[in-house]
Amino acid sequence: MTTKRETWRSHWGMIVAMIGTAIGLGNIWRFPYLCGKYGGASFLIPYVVLLFGIAIFAMMCEWVLGRHTKREPLGAFDKIKFPFGRDIGAWGVIGPFFLYSYYIVITSWVIFFVFASLEGLYFGKDTEAYFSSFLGSKWIFVVHFIAVCITSGILAMGVQKGIERACKIMIPTLFVLLIIVAIRSVTLPGAAEGIEFYMRPRWEGLLNVETWIAALGQVFFTLSLGMGAMLLYGSYMKDEWGIPMNALTVTLGNTSASILAGFAIFPAAFALGFGAVIGGAKSIGLTFFVLPKVFEVMPGGHIFGGIFFVLLAFGAISSAISIQEPAIAWLKEEASWTRREAALFTGIILWIMGLPFILNGFVQGGIGAKLALLSKMDIIIGQLAIPVFGILAIIAVGYFMGNRGFDEMNKNARVKLSHTWIKFWIRAIVPVFIGLLFMLTLIRVLQDNGIIPRVIPSAKDIEFTSIGITPMTVFMTIFICVIFWGGFIYFTVKVLTIERDKRRRVKRGLHHSR
Ligand code: PHE
Repeated sequence: MTTKRETWRSHWGMIVAMIGTAIGLGNIWRFPYLCGKYGGASFLIPYVVLLFGIAIFAMMCEWVLGRHTKREPLGAFDKIKFPFGRDIGAWGVIGPFFLYSYYIVITSWVIFFVFASLEGLYFGKDTEAYFSSFLGSKWIFVVHFIAVCITSGILAMGVQKGIERACKIMIPTLFVLLIIVAIRSVTLPGAAEGIEFYMRPRWEGLLNVETWIAALGQVFFTLSLGMGAMLLYGSYMKDEWGIPMNALTVTLGNTSASILAGFAIFPAAFALGFGAVIGGAKSIGLTFFVLPKVFEVMPGGHIFGGIFFVLLAFGAISSAISIQEPAIAWLKEEASWTRREAALFTGIILWIMGLPFILNGFVQGGIGAKLALLSKMDIIIGQLAIPVFGILAIIAVGYFMGNRGFDEMNKNARVKLSHTWIKFWIRAIVPVFIGLLFMLTLIRVLQDNGIIPRVIPSAKDIEFTSIGITPMTVFMTIFICVIFWGGFIYFTVKVLTIERDKRRRVKRGLHHSR
């Protein structure tokens, strides 16, 4: 390719932009919802294991594929001569449409809650009933339309520099607000039970295959893998940045936000009387009726809630953009459309695709019934489609790029991964582990439908009875917080120092050359 591709401008800008696509509804809506559904720490443990054992490698593979080929997903698979590369790469363009179709509906709830908070509309009300009635109101059409216009509008203008600059301000602010909400939440009277729910692992959850499959989907979802987004963002990476350490920093940064969101939601949920909702069909809306209650009991809750939802909307939009962008990049590069035409066209299709999820909100019944379609789609995309496509990048790097892939991974890296070890891990362990999880799920589905005899135990309902804060709960809390927040702070400081030193060197160099 002779055309000059854009790249991220600075190292820190790149990290923030990567964290920008990764942080979104996956952290503040999906993570707490799944964590609730699968029993708090019973979900958290598989999540952490799969994050470091699988997802971080999948992310490195997508970056390698993107940076090495400097192409959009379809072109990337084609360029390395992956069998049926174009067809497979096509999924990286089409698949995101299905994700976007419901992701943007949730984004539009966030936009609505910006106004609802500033106007104080839910204050003093039953927030669950309020959310439920919103799902069946005309406002949902308005905010959904606005949300699609925002992402299509931004993409019509071209985003890259804009994303980098905006993320630099918004993402750190979102972190600060999340910390404040989490502090409010854990200091509410009755919060301890929520902390216990979130941090005490229970065997019945850990031994459930479904928990592991859900966690596998979530680690891919949260790191924006399997949808072409990370691959494309990787193609904007400069050669001088090493892949392994940056992948670790982005993973830690992204997950720090999820962990914080859990601390913002679970203690408050238990303290404010939503304990019984957790785990049920309604829990898919948890974030949207627990957080408003927290804002209600905070001084200046209107403004605070408003700002919080603005930032969350930003997180969601910066992710939604990266979901819509691969289709636009493809229409532009392969079909010679202009960026504007592509943005308008994809915008219209995506708007239509979102309507079924909205119309579902008009059925009679509770939140569970109103969100039934959305929750089904989320399972299909998040637990099946995303991991399956995510594996392809791993196979591409592991088996088709040969040493080129592993060399690219270690190029200019401060800490290089040993070839033997990384090859073994990526070629054997990762695919086998993922394959095994899928097989176990398949067996479960077949046996639960009576097609094959029972070979593995069916899932037990994960019930939660408080036994008070035990040493195990304390240990888990400290362990999780130190690993993620400590790790993230450590690497952030490191990147910023390296960058400062580099700037100084460049300055000095300029001085000398004068
Ligand atoms: N990672 C994003 C989030 O957590 C969602 C996303 C998935 C974005 C896949 C792009 C691609 O909200």
